Amino acid sequence: MFKELALAIPFFVGASTALPQATPGAKLAPDAKFSLMALRSASEVHFAGFDAAKSSLFLNLPNQNASCDAGPADSATFYLQDGGLYLYAASATPQQLYVDRSGMGQGKLGYTTGAQPTPKNAERTSFTLDESNDLTFNGAGFIACPNSIDGAWSVWVSAGIDKPAGNEGCLGISVRAVEVSEPNGCLYTE
Ligand SMILES: *[C@@H]1O[C@H](CO)[C@@H](O)[C@H](O)[C@H]1NC(C)=O
Repeated sequence: MFKELALAIPFFVGASTALPQATPGAKLAPDAKFSLMALRSASEVHFAGFDAAKSSLFLNLPNQNASCDAGPADSATFYLQDGGLYLYAASATPQQLYVDRSGMGQGKLGYTTGAQPTPKNAERTSFTLDESNDLTFNGAGFIACPNSIDGAWSVWVSAGIDKPAGNEGCLGISVRAVEVSEPNGCLYTE
């Protein structure tokens, strides 16, 4: 697997600049609905879409098992409001992201459903998209760690810890918002 990947890399890297979704487009409108894509060249998670399940965020999750208005969604849809980051639903209980950068959370990125409380030290703001539509949280970037549920990678906010919750093999990723013109509203699993 690793050898195949190594052989594929030169072609992949060469080709990647031609992929339209890798090129930042115009800055998204403040009310845009978007998916989030991980960028980390020469890795398994380059161009992986963010998935939401079990109150956490993943890359390369085979199935989110969310309840969606327009049939199964292969990745999650988000929007920003007042510096908060939400999962998009046409009409349902709000699902809002939080970050726990405390010693307990180590950069845990999760979401709550409805009135569900966040962990004690969680922060909700501010998520921001820059001119390239790259996402940051209070200036911090993101980390992805392999070997999570169903073979997926878990996503964390960088809190200065290379191995959040003891996870090995984590990689720093850039996270780019890509507009979704016809968003599929979903209720993601808790
Ligand atoms: C989705 O459902 C399948 C089948 O029940 C299960 O194997 C899988 O672990 C579930 N994934 C998540 C993220 O809940």
